[in-house]
Amino acid sequence: MHPRSLLLPLLLLASACGPSSSVDEGLGVVQELDTSEQGITDFVRSGHYKSWLAEPTVHETRAPHGSKVRVFFNDLVVGSLRDGNATHPVGSILVKEMYEKDGKTLRGHALDVKISDGAGKDTWIFYEGFGPNYDNNYYGRAHDTCHGCHSDGKDYVTTPLP
Ligand code: HEC
Repeated sequence: MHPRSLLLPLLLLASACGPSSSVDEGLGVVQELDTSEQGITDFVRSGHYKSWLAEPTVHETRAPHGSKVRVFFNDLVVGSLRDGNATHPVGSILVKEMYEKDGKTLRGHALDVKISDGAGKDTWIFYEGFGPNYDNNYYGRAHDTCHGCHSDGKDYVTTPLP
């Protein structure tokens, strides 16, 4: 099955907001991350997040992000989750690796970055892209495909600290 086919019904529900072309929310660099679509693509492909705190293993997803996943947390969001904050500080970043069923072949990445203080979907940029080219990505502040499920979490974060 095509990896995107699971998201398609949600996309249709969410109306016209689908994958974007290369765009930029114009928020520049946040916590050393260039928050343009290209900047986030370069970042996830670089694997620089791999030194962050991570879930111990690749595991089955609870969401339509592909069959197996592993989530990484940058230091800012680790501290904030430990403190039990209601909202996370600007520069909080979470990366989700998405794998094929074999749990070994990396298909793509999802990333959330907190770009302004306070509550609400507008305080996050959401990104999701798939290899090998990452040329048909979801990208945007308060992206319509993403914020719905994530509003179930605390300030849009749904994965507990490992
Ligand atoms: C149908 C519900 C749903 C939708 C739609 C959804 N997510 Fe998620 N997301 C989840 C769940 C549940 C998790 C927890 C990990 C898991 O089980 O895969 C998660 C985890 C994540 C994580 C790891 C951090 C966290 O909050 O747990 C990121 C990053 C992420 N999603 C990004 C996105 C992006 C970007 C989009 C839009 C393209 C999106 N998600 C759309 C349900 C959803």
